[in-house]
Amino acid sequence: MKFSVKLRLTSFLIVLISINETLSSSYSILHMIQNIKKQQASSVLGRSTLMFVSWPSPSPTVQSQYQRPVGIIRETHEVTVVIVPLPAQGHLNQLLHLSRLISSYDIPVHYVGTASHIRQAKVRVHGWDPLAISNIHFHEFSIPSYETPPPNPNAPTKFPTQLIPVFNTSIKLREPVYALLQQLSGTSRRLVVIYDSLMAYVIQDVGLIPNAESYCSPGTSAFTIYSCFPQEMTDFAKLQQDVKPISSGYLFNTCRAIEGPYLDLHVKSKITDSDKQWAIGPFNPVEVNGQKNSETRHCCLDWLDKQAPNSVIFISFGSTTSVSDEEAKEIATGLDKSGQKFIWVLRDADKGDVFQGEDRRAQLPKGFEERVEGRGIVVRDWAPQLEILGHSSTGGFMSHCGWNSCIESISMGVPVAAWPMHSDQPRNAILLEKVLKIGLKVRDWSKLNELVTSITVENAVRRLMDSAEGEEMRQRARELSKAVKGSVMEGGLSRLEMDSFIAHIRR
Ligand SMILES: *[C@@H]1O[C@H](CO)[C@@H](O)[C@H](O)[C@H]1NC(C)=O
Repeated sequence: MKFSVKLRLTSFLIVLISINETLSSSYSILHMIQNIKKQQASSVLGRSTLMFVSWPSPSPTVQSQYQRPVGIIRETHEVTVVIVPLPAQGHLNQLLHLSRLISSYDIPVHYVGTASHIRQAKVRVHGWDPLAISNIHFHEFSIPSYETPPPNPNAPTKFPTQLIPVFNTSIKLREPVYALLQQLSGTSRRLVVIYDSLMAYVIQDVGLIPNAESYCSPGTSAFTIYSCFPQEMTDFAKLQQDVKPISSGYLFNTCRAIEGPYLDLHVKSKITDSDKQWAIGPFNPVEVNGQKNSETRHCCLDWLDKQAPNSVIFISFGSTTSVSDEEAKEIATGLDKSGQKFIWVLRDADKGDVFQGEDRRAQLPKGFEERVEGRGIVVRDWAPQLEILGHSSTGGFMSHCGWNSCIESISMGVPVAAWPMHSDQPRNAILLEKVLKIGLKVRDWSKLNELVTSITVENAVRRLMDSAEGEEMRQRARELSKAVKGSVMEGGLSRLEMDSFIAHIRR
């Protein structure tokens, strides 16, 4: 079976071709998926009724340990883990979630990055509090200054080229990361480096440390593992490929309940240098408590409390994409005409340094916010996505289909109106729509250069929120969510794989 993962780092043109291939291969193994999914769902759910716990709870807060200077790391540990994320929100977020999971096994975790990206990761974490976990040690390194151009909402593609300068400069983390690894290697029997696949260059010296080994976290689904990047990204991506660090295995932010057959395919097709892989996702918490009385609770959650179950659609296109004023107008008009309730996060895409410079405010049609008052909310800043998706009033998600958003939506049982923007997103959209059948298409990838009209938006919102078809998707999403939640519980498949990974690094 030819699987599109063989296509690496190609141009946008090839994205289109590979999607067709993915499509046919996904159809041909669909029955396999359904069977496996049924078996897993029943076995997982069978166990889950009595043992409803979330991941092991973290150790109590010890504030003094939290930002311990590197110079005084003294104790000897069995195993120490160092996490090396790519400095972009989705990647920072995902590996910070993973840090929490590993930390819950009482293993010291060191999370590295620039000062600004560490701060970004911490202030935007959702579903739990990184300040409350003393086992996570943050290391802030400096790198040469880099350009932080604003995103261009009118660019011909939605790929976040504004982040290329920070990606390019992030390779300078190589030296300080190596120095940290050398220092930590003396305090631990084994040093385990978990790196984003786009940070291979930075960790290429791991092989020089005798008690260190590295594990790659691709950050995508198994279905889409080798994303296709546009031309602007190929230099940086190739840099990572050329160093080819010896990876001792792969850690997937997914689980067998979602895409077991693709995980198997990944091993069978031998596309990587290691046959060891662990599907230990979702990395994100699968249970979030809304903290009803908390002062820091986002106001849109209070509003959600007052709405009927499954009556609100959440709209957000992630951290890397800005919509143009023209697109914003079509979305606004479509939402208005749909008559449905909504929370729409309309913020500018991230710059290389999110704490620098002004953010653009996309224009909305005159009078829009007044017209939809009481029925819809436009959020202009960061929104607690996991809590929103986890809220019982949320019944649909219009999303760019970044992998974090997909797996969060799957975790919370919310079907998706797919509006893919770039990279792995069009394939994730196919996974949701054609394989899992918990999504419908808004933006047609074959009409990439056409404006998505208000009529398309209106129809998609109605289909998802107010039709029998939408209700069926919601039902399937709920079932998948149950299987995924069962997976991370004691005895569930993801939890067993996580236990097995921890046992492996403690061997
Ligand atoms: C990024 O680095 C590559 C070389 O690795 C270079 O060709 C490219 O111009 C750089 N891009 C930016 C925006 O700095």
